[in-house]
Amino acid sequence: MNIPIARTVFEESEYENIHKPLSSGWVVQGSFVKEFEEKWCTFTGTKNSIAVSNCTTALHLSLAALGISREDEVILPSFTWIATANSVEYLGAKPVLCDIDISTYNIDTSQIEKHITDRTKAIIPVHLFGLSSEMDRVNELASKYKLFVVEDAACGFGAQYNGMHVGNFGNTGCFSFHPRKAITTGEGGMITTNDNELAIQLRSMRDHGASISDHQRHLGSKPYLLPDFPYLGYNYRMTDIQASIGSTQMDRAESIHKKRSMVADKYNDLIKTISWLEKPFTGNNFEHGFQAYVCLFKPEEINMGNLNRISGMRNEFMDYLQTKGISTRPGTHAVHLLDYYRNKYGFKPENYPNSFIASECSIAFPLFPSLTDIEFEYISETIRNYKL
Ligand SMILES: Cc1ncc(COP(=O)(O)O)c(C=O)c1O
Repeated sequence: MNIPIARTVFEESEYENIHKPLSSGWVVQGSFVKEFEEKWCTFTGTKNSIAVSNCTTALHLSLAALGISREDEVILPSFTWIATANSVEYLGAKPVLCDIDISTYNIDTSQIEKHITDRTKAIIPVHLFGLSSEMDRVNELASKYKLFVVEDAACGFGAQYNGMHVGNFGNTGCFSFHPRKAITTGEGGMITTNDNELAIQLRSMRDHGASISDHQRHLGSKPYLLPDFPYLGYNYRMTDIQASIGSTQMDRAESIHKKRSMVADKYNDLIKTISWLEKPFTGNNFEHGFQAYVCLFKPEEINMGNLNRISGMRNEFMDYLQTKGISTRPGTHAVHLLDYYRNKYGFKPENYPNSFIASECSIAFPLFPSLTDIEFEYISETIRNYKL
């Protein structure tokens, strides 16, 4: 067996639809991007969706549009993909890390307030692995201190909090279509916002700050007139080739979400029987999107004293699975352990103990809709047979 951590499978409908932009000759941002955006609005229940080149650019664009700049501080969890912090660095602002709640892997909302200073301008809660952050608490603090909220919903497809899809809680929500995500366009991203004015600005800024898009100009009566550029913008556009694939997948969005949840349910049943693995958090207010199925490798309570030993045991377990043809990964990394951030800000691993633990002791198992019963049985048997 050879079971990857994620398997990208395109269906016949994607192969059919991708021919449309190719044969029309219009391959840059155009009608397929618009269609993809409309379907994204319907699925997430947001007023505006703005497709961009990836989630990192979605985060950067959101912060830039909200006016984050030099000297500003932005609070984000220390356990997240580096892109969350990088998007703040690009603007010369300071990413201020906040530790996570080890049971959810999301920002520990009880620790946010102590990081707020006169310079704090925004919070980026990350809905890691498809579990929403506690958005009530985040938004309470945001309104108390007049802060912007940019949701990092890179993994957030299908994730709901109090019955509402993520991407509706902040000033913007930023999604990823990298192949490890539930919907993929190769590379790609989407910004959601319920603020119509901000949406206009974001649409312009993804396209060099142009007042109208190329597509609108070409469809109009005076395509020879170039637009004005009211904003400093970027080229963060998605192509129609990518959007044709994304839009087609949205036609089966519900079933993609359901299939991922079904695989997660099977893992939950399995992990219940394995005393040294802690299964992902579930709660009444949370609908999990299961971008990834991440457990904590926890044969005993983990602390700074035994962390190295337990992390070594986790790595041996991952090695065992690798030799059996089953791919695993750490959930993600801790930003404060990465060279660039360590060197720049002088972080020590123990500054954010839960993020340190999560980075060294978490383990993601293969999860994708096309995981077969035979493959799952094989994963179950192999995990059950492991002797600690
Ligand atoms: C939490 C988080 N934020 C941001 C990103 C960046 O997404 P992209 O690769 O689309 O730029 C990722 C990608 O994995 C992520 O996991």
